[in-house]
Amino acid sequence: MSSLEAVTRGLELAGQRHVLQFWPELDEEERARFLQDLDLLDLDGLRAHCERAAAAAAAPPAGGDRSIEPVPPELIGSVRTSDPESLSAWREEGLMQISQNRVGVLLLAGGQGTRLGVQYPKGMYNVGLPSNKTLYQIQAERIHKIQELADVKHGSRCSVPWYIMTSEFTLAPTQKFFEENSYFGLEPSNVILFEQRMIPAVTFDGKVILQGKGKIAMAPDGNGGLYQALVDNKVLEDMRRRGVEYLHVYCVDNILVKMADPVFIGFCVSKGADCGAKVVEKAFPTEPVGVVCRVQGVSQVVEYSEIHPDTAGLRGPGGDLVHGAGNICIHFFTRAFLQEVAEKFESQLKPHVAIKKVPFVDSEGNQVKPTKPNGIKMEKFVFDVFPFSRNFVAFEVLREEEFSPLKNADSAATDNPTTARNSLLTQHCRWAAAAGATLLDQHGKPLPPAASVSPADAPPAQCEISPLVSYFGEGLDLMLKGKNLRTPLILDLIKAQDLQAQ
Ligand code: UTP
Repeated sequence: MSSLEAVTRGLELAGQRHVLQFWPELDEEERARFLQDLDLLDLDGLRAHCERAAAAAAAPPAGGDRSIEPVPPELIGSVRTSDPESLSAWREEGLMQISQNRVGVLLLAGGQGTRLGVQYPKGMYNVGLPSNKTLYQIQAERIHKIQELADVKHGSRCSVPWYIMTSEFTLAPTQKFFEENSYFGLEPSNVILFEQRMIPAVTFDGKVILQGKGKIAMAPDGNGGLYQALVDNKVLEDMRRRGVEYLHVYCVDNILVKMADPVFIGFCVSKGADCGAKVVEKAFPTEPVGVVCRVQGVSQVVEYSEIHPDTAGLRGPGGDLVHGAGNICIHFFTRAFLQEVAEKFESQLKPHVAIKKVPFVDSEGNQVKPTKPNGIKMEKFVFDVFPFSRNFVAFEVLREEEFSPLKNADSAATDNPTTARNSLLTQHCRWAAAAGATLLDQHGKPLPPAASVSPADAPPAQCEISPLVSYFGEGLDLMLKGKNLRTPLILDLIKAQDLQAQ
């Protein structure tokens, strides 16, 4: 470990001497801990980091109109418009790759979930489904099921490794949660947790923020910290050892995520893509989501604020938005592409500025919880590597089937626990009806079909289908066709066996 003298010198060179202002007040233990933290800081890069943060925050926000073009149609697949034969061929291809252990999933779970406002990792959140399953459990069971589907199809005994990127905030509780829940039936060696880097939060004038007298305010470096974390933790080597060639990357908060989606994977593999993104059609032109597109031929995500409203509102001959490919943070990467990013491009990724309220100690040593934003957090985004792709593809899916993120507490109008729960239950009602079942209320009266597509609407019934029974609505007709099902209903493996025997 570096000495106090060395650290002091490093901080002075970085223009950050104030970090040690309360040193004389710290006891031995606090000093040892603080010195350890400071030792982990990249002191050589600290000045540049602070100056870059202050300059980026002072720059006017990028606005105006970027000259964007849609991804060329031959590089887009769609569950809505591609023909059924192609969709089926892609599904087969994906299942075949999965059966040969060539597919892994990677969860981005290092975020602090400040908008949801819970003190534990978002994956441990229970949105109030009848089963009370957490997001982590739902995802684990979907991995289980997709392995089973590939095995049944190909007579294999495959595994889909689950790489989980955590941060200082989420690693220990996530690890404990998985251990306490026996990894939800998955093989523990196939659940690989690793940690992303943390970087200091900075004031608007470029000073590192002290969160305590002996503690710097640190934040994870954004979900684009993935690429550094893959190298730091030798994840690409692990993938190579296992023979994993394709990675399906997603965010923890999307309750409808199709883990290792064989259709998406099969599509990307068939197109020879090195990088791909799932998209949903934007709900309305000014919807605040990034748009997957090209700028001067280079694939990327352009923020909604950078697109002129007239451009955003353009519609094609069929009435669809021309620039309507909304990014939902579900991506495909080949291992070879990730290797190339790690070796050649990671250092070129430019961090984005997030202005946040960062608790701090003032110069008198008082703890302050700011009421307005006072600090800058620099974050990289996972999609920042799209421009380095040589063969980028996009795949359009239906929002009501695949995208319902949990971002906010129920006090907000959208993307909250209620909308997440409703979208999943409504989907399961649709699946049951499509399989030929009639859902009944608790008095035995038939319920109206699940026509609703808005997650804000209450579902027609409390009907929850375990991912262990059906991954995406498949295989339900055998057990549900012609059945009257009283709700509330949890269709788990035991109930499924009962129904099949009837
Ligand atoms: P969000 O941008 O929604 O952030 O992350 P968040 O941390 O979950 O929530 P807020 O903004 O504090 O309310 C999108 C995805 O990226 C992951 C999150 O865990 C989530 O899956 N993420 C975010 C990381 O893995 N690392 C980060 O540094 C930031």
